Amino acid sequence: MEIIIKRDAEEASLEAAAIFRRQLREKPESVLGLATGSTPLRFYELLAAMGRAGELDASRAVTFNLDEYVGLSAAHPQSYAAYMRAHLLDHLPVARWHIPDGQTADIPRHCAEYEAAIRAAGGIDIQLLGLGSDGHIGFNEPGSSLGSRTRLKTLTARTVADNAPHFASPAEVPRHVITMGVGTILEARRCVVLAFGKQKAHAVAAMAEGPVTAMVPASALQMHPACALIVDEAAAGDLQRRDYYRWVYENKPAWQRP
Ligand code: GLP
Repeated sequence: MEIIIKRDAEEASLEAAAIFRRQLREKPESVLGLATGSTPLRFYELLAAMGRAGELDASRAVTFNLDEYVGLSAAHPQSYAAYMRAHLLDHLPVARWHIPDGQTADIPRHCAEYEAAIRAAGGIDIQLLGLGSDGHIGFNEPGSSLGSRTRLKTLTARTVADNAPHFASPAEVPRHVITMGVGTILEARRCVVLAFGKQKAHAVAAMAEGPVTAMVPASALQMHPACALIVDEAAAGDLQRRDYYRWVYENKPAWQRP
């Protein structure tokens, strides 16, 4: 895993946006895996700005989001479909986008079709990920099988509490979600994980330096051949080998930089 420690969330978001810009320049028809949450908001703003400036063209790209709340329609303001429209899709045209349907009548079938659509698109070229404070990716809570596929999950009380500020009250946060599995995520050709703030420091250290365990689903990314973890100073606070990661980044060959 490549660990990039940036001064702040702005610098980290810029690094991630530059990686996606390079990906789209090299392969305009890229299949992008996208994430929600507060972490990637600035990243999406930067992508949209790059699009407006003509630095990036996503019009041939296809996107797949990681997850969606069960029970929320795409029009519900807290749905991830609404989030994606507001923060990216209304500002950066893409060829096709996909988000799990939180109102599907047949969840297992819809999940199988979502997996099939990813395969039919040629697989995900680059997957953006945030990190839950309990080490989840997508909505794969601790205990998720590291081989799991897109399916129904029940949120932990902690994730419900973490996401409650986005809803009128904690009671309104859906308990169930549809999420790509850890196994689905691991099949992406590249992964880029963003984590900011000291409330993520413990999860960042467990993900990158702890054992690979279902108790920290993000730790499965240690098995991924091309995963970059981009953090700010606060989120890097619990990493044992911070100085080494900085050294690696300072000495990174020019051809590897975005
Ligand atoms: C949610 C999302 C994840 C996200 C995580 C962290 O549970 N399903 O995709 O990475 O929370 O959210 P935030 O970026 O708001 O801290």
